[in-house]
Amino acid sequence: MAILLCVSLSLILLPQVGSVRNCHPGCRCEVENYGLFDSFSLTKVYCSGVGPSSAPIPIPLDTSFLDLSSNSIYTITDSMLTGPGYTTLVSLDLSRNYISEVHPNALSRLRYLETLDLSQNSLEDLTDGVFTGLPLTELDLSSNKIQELRLDIFSTKAHGKPISVDLSNNLLAAVSRRPHTGPPNIKSLTLAGNLLRTVPDLRGIPLRYLNLDGNPISSIEKDVFVDLKDLVHLSLSGLPTLTAIQPQSFKDLQNLQVLDLSNNPKLDSLNPEIFTGLIALQELNLSKSGVMSLPDNILSYVPSIRSLSLGKNIQCWKTQKQGQFHRQIGQTKSGEVLTCDVSDISL
Ligand SMILES: *[C@@H]1O[C@H](CO)[C@@H](O)[C@H](O)[C@H]1NC(C)=O
Repeated sequence: MAILLCVSLSLILLPQVGSVRNCHPGCRCEVENYGLFDSFSLTKVYCSGVGPSSAPIPIPLDTSFLDLSSNSIYTITDSMLTGPGYTTLVSLDLSRNYISEVHPNALSRLRYLETLDLSQNSLEDLTDGVFTGLPLTELDLSSNKIQELRLDIFSTKAHGKPISVDLSNNLLAAVSRRPHTGPPNIKSLTLAGNLLRTVPDLRGIPLRYLNLDGNPISSIEKDVFVDLKDLVHLSLSGLPTLTAIQPQSFKDLQNLQVLDLSNNPKLDSLNPEIFTGLIALQELNLSKSGVMSLPDNILSYVPSIRSLSLGKNIQCWKTQKQGQFHRQIGQTKSGEVLTCDVSDISL
């Protein structure tokens, strides 16, 4: 009975993968049906490595995911991402091409696009307004050549004629799937491996995850993270030129839980005031950085800390004060201490 129940449950809940007729040569198309009577379906189209094409690759109506990675694409023109199927895309992968240019209205018809991967391309700059009007929540721009990121790429109106939409036949559909308007809604932004010299101004974006690893940032200035109060995870790892973090740089990040400052060899001392405001911080990674000791009173700055990594392989964690087997620092009134797994470092 139990087995029967499991089997029938899995038939209902697991997606049933089918194939699609009329899939473009070289692409692989999959339809996943969900729900009791396959009432809900997702079409995914994989066209990685099919080669460059200036005309849009035809994709099935209602495609929600499209992979166009590794296709030697240099420019995304205004017409490449148009046609039936493209308007319903929720996720688009353009990674591993040679893209150096995205035309101003190239993405403007992708009115339901939430996830966009442009990593491993040759972008130096993006036109103002290129992401305006897209309901993007996840944007990966890592491994490009971006020197400066302006907020205008998300908020200014794109150039050219606005796209008029005929609602007469399709009013219901338009109402139930209202396109995104208003301020950017990006929750996850990856800018790792670019040429940014400073932390870009991201004010007004409700980011939860931000990755700036591997950029030539030499200093973190006060107020660069101002307003990012929803941020949960901030990665500033592998910054070969980072020498200084100004006190109170992170003071608005009241929800930050993870701060990765690992692999920053030139960062060798920390003023405790750097940690001002990080009341929710649980994980701090300083491994392979130049920082070898921690301020005595660090626990009073980061009361929620659970784990901290330091040096080559030193782990510290917060415990209630008990025996004296380990070196302990930062004792607070409640008897909580930071305990590290070595006894011979100067903390
Ligand atoms: C800290 O960073 C190092 C180097 O980037 C990484 O190997 C390690 O897994 C990280 N530790 C934690 C606890 O995340």
